[in-house]
Amino acid sequence: MTPYSCMNRNELEQAYQTALNDFDRVKALGLKLDMSRGKPSKAQLDMVSGILTQVQTADDCIDEGIDTRNYGELAGLPCARRYWAEILDCRPEEIFVGAAASLNLMYDVISRAFTHGLLHSERPWCREEKVKFLCPCPGYDRHFLITQSFGAELVNVPMTPDGPDMDVVEELVKDPAVKGIWTVPKYSNPDGIIYSDETIRRFANLKPAAPDFILMWDNAYCIHEFRGEYVPFPDIIRLCAEAGNPDMVVEFASTSKVTFAGGGICCMAASEDNIKYFSRLFGVQQICHDKVNQLRHVRFLKNKAHTLEIMKGHAAILEPKFRTVADYLNREIAPLGFAQWNDPKGGYFVSLNTMPGTAKRALALCKEAGVTMTSAGAAFPYGMDPQDRNIRIAPSLPPVEELEKAMEIFCTCLKLAALEKLRAGA
Ligand SMILES: Cc1ncc(COP(=O)(O)O)c(C=O)c1O
Repeated sequence: MTPYSCMNRNELEQAYQTALNDFDRVKALGLKLDMSRGKPSKAQLDMVSGILTQVQTADDCIDEGIDTRNYGELAGLPCARRYWAEILDCRPEEIFVGAAASLNLMYDVISRAFTHGLLHSERPWCREEKVKFLCPCPGYDRHFLITQSFGAELVNVPMTPDGPDMDVVEELVKDPAVKGIWTVPKYSNPDGIIYSDETIRRFANLKPAAPDFILMWDNAYCIHEFRGEYVPFPDIIRLCAEAGNPDMVVEFASTSKVTFAGGGICCMAASEDNIKYFSRLFGVQQICHDKVNQLRHVRFLKNKAHTLEIMKGHAAILEPKFRTVADYLNREIAPLGFAQWNDPKGGYFVSLNTMPGTAKRALALCKEAGVTMTSAGAAFPYGMDPQDRNIRIAPSLPPVEELEKAMEIFCTCLKLAALEKLRAGA
């Protein structure tokens, strides 16, 4: 195959006609597939459904003398706090166990910052003239949406292979209106990047002008390798404390992609002072979370070692899907030289940059052919990809046979959109 950039007009025209025919052919497959979000597949959910029978009788509900069916333990069952502390390598006193999903806790933290202020706020953020929030991008659309919904101005920060560009971050935090940053330190969504030790050290040592600057450390994929061995990660709570920033960071994690998506347990890790502060605020809203579910999870997941075993089960289901994506892209797209993508070893996404100015069109074509992907631009603040080139591929949900068809459609649409652009520019 000749790269598009080396084709003459005739060759481009031929390639375009072939792509058009291919598009008609794949459209006729009549596929209806939603690949817009990183959902676990049925096989993954079935694999962990033993969790449903962990707590069956009234006696099962008692743990360390606590009746999990009753009110109490706002910050979580002691065994659940110990469980998360082991996963995140911090202390149980630094853990607050939330309800079924970590986005809830993230939303609550930002919401309280606006209505009440954080531990070191001079005033609630809603009383500030301007609030800016840093958004490394491509990043997670739902993060950006939370801060956008409260009226913060979202500021793009470029990603590098080592994580967010720290030169840019260190410069931007000199502005006191900059109140925080969203981060996904391990297998970032969607790039699949693990932040380097140096990036993490620089984060812990940030010197923001805002006294209530918050580092939103969303460790959503902390144990989510689908290829290779588990990669340990540093305890950001301790690193921030050692750097003299004990209350600057709040870390989040959940079992959404370990047990049931949106039906697991989640946690927030932070300094003890922060945990006390947030417990006071959250305690107005809620007496406690569902401790029966916490107990069910701890009994099923047991500890870090056992959880990592379960994650190997997920990996066995996920790895062939990521391999399928890579195989199609390497075979169909790589020789044409107009797109680049990452090859992650964990997380839930492949991030692809196609020919600038064609991502929206490629995804519209995909939709026409029956495959819905995450909207173009979703990984950028305000849904606006300045180059209209980034596409997030989420291969976890469909079985491999369906994914193969979806990838055939996707590759065809990428080519067609690129060729349309080249023809228009010719
Ligand atoms: C980075 C990141 N954080 C959080 C979530 C959602 O987590 P939860 O279900 O715990 O709210 C996702 C889901 O895709 C994610 O990619």
